[in-house]
Amino acid sequence: MTVKLTREGPYALLTLDRPEALNALSFDIIRQIDAALEQARLWDIRALIITGAGDKAFCAGADIKKLMGRSLEEQKRGAELGQVTFAKLDRFPVPSIAAINGYAFGGGMELAMACTFRVAGPGARMGLPEVKLGLIPGYGGTQRLPRLVGEARAMELILTGRTVKPEQALQIGLVNQVVEVDVVAAAIAFADQFSGYSKLALNFARDAVQRALSVPLSEGLRIEVDLSTLAYQTEDADEGMSAFIEKRIPQFKDR
Ligand code: CAA
Repeated sequence: MTVKLTREGPYALLTLDRPEALNALSFDIIRQIDAALEQARLWDIRALIITGAGDKAFCAGADIKKLMGRSLEEQKRGAELGQVTFAKLDRFPVPSIAAINGYAFGGGMELAMACTFRVAGPGARMGLPEVKLGLIPGYGGTQRLPRLVGEARAMELILTGRTVKPEQALQIGLVNQVVEVDVVAAAIAFADQFSGYSKLALNFARDAVQRALSVPLSEGLRIEVDLSTLAYQTEDADEGMSAFIEKRIPQFKDR
């Protein structure tokens, strides 16, 4: 298998393991990612971390050698396959973190952008270079990048295809954290910040934030009323508020 799924304590670690091709994505690998997500969904985990094998690349994007010679129908189905698989990260039962350990280009950056958070190591290089191939992003890049960094920056990055280094990625909001050391260890430490909280509260919050940019403010505020009321109904909300008043650490049960 080219996609490996392992347990790291309370987390699942999904590794793209094709370092000789900089972890480039064939249709088969995307299907393996999809299968790994379905498997990890059944595990009792607090976060999913995604990284690339080797020290050069997170993922260099769609497999360009297999891109050529496709029929239009195959190409369209390929874009849909990538989008549907990456969209599963948006709705994944626990937050996901891309541990970007090298090149994250094209479909690789789109995979990272579909994660809830991104942590970049010192060698991380990010970009959507499709325009240099006469193409445009097809796995969600034109839609997720403006939501992360705003329209002007997204337009600039997509139309120039230029590479972004970690410090600039942090500055424009493309990544959440830049680290000098082991990026998977850093992603685990990042997840440790929220892994003790109620999964229900985390998911209501993710849902509300994700919908913020796709609905008018008045509708978003209505969504927040509904989701905050749903959170209030949980046993974990009772536990969290009781623990505060009783000056003890809450024991959340995801109920
Ligand atoms: N597809 C297929 N193979 C790839 C690949 C890709 N996207 N990226 C790298 N490789 C292969 C190379 O062909 C090479 O294989 P061989 O040894 O058999 O020749 C191997 O990986 C190592 O790559 P390089 O020798 O090029 O390594 P480098 O360090 O000199 O350069 C790089 C690294 C700058 C990332 C360069 O490989 C590169 O530019 N790759 C393509 C990046 C790209 O354009 N990605 C977008 C793809 S299109 C897309 O993703 C569409 C979409 O929206 C889904």
